[in-house]
Amino acid sequence: MNIAIYPGSFDPVHNGHLDVIERASKICDKVIVAVAVNRSKSGLFTMEERVDLIEKATEGISGIEVKSFEGLLVNFFQKENADAVIRGIRAVSDFEYEFQMALMNRSLDEELETIFMMPSQENIYLSSRIVKEVAHLNGNIDNFVPPVVKAALQEKIG
Ligand code: PNS
Repeated sequence: MNIAIYPGSFDPVHNGHLDVIERASKICDKVIVAVAVNRSKSGLFTMEERVDLIEKATEGISGIEVKSFEGLLVNFFQKENADAVIRGIRAVSDFEYEFQMALMNRSLDEELETIFMMPSQENIYLSSRIVKEVAHLNGNIDNFVPPVVKAALQEKIG
């Protein structure tokens, strides 16, 4: 059984994340969507809300588990006995940070392999930050997030 971890902040999960989760679920037996706890960075949604939204948004996809983790990704990777870490990559601008992170993680554990996946073109420009900005400014976010996240954003932002 191969297990992949898809880590991120997911504040909140959007269609670009879901696109990567769906692709990863086709090549892995189990995908653990891992919400990182960042105590120094307060987000719009709490950890519990992020986990809950991902669980609801991934209901139709098989082999998905949603968890949170604190501290180093490499420790969580070892604890879960995982085979790989999945990261979505959207554009050249993502590359430097992702490259740095993948090499740092590998230097912490030689077994940690990072697999990069590209979302489909219509989701390539999405980020949680930009979705929140559009929602704040009352823009239409129907094409960017699943209905459950849209409702949660509307409730948060008003
Ligand atoms: O969605 P994001 O914010 O780009 O995700 C970044 C995340 C959470 C995957 C990354 O910051 C992370 O792995 N944090 C855990 C702490 C850690 O292991 N840091 C060292 C890796 S370079």
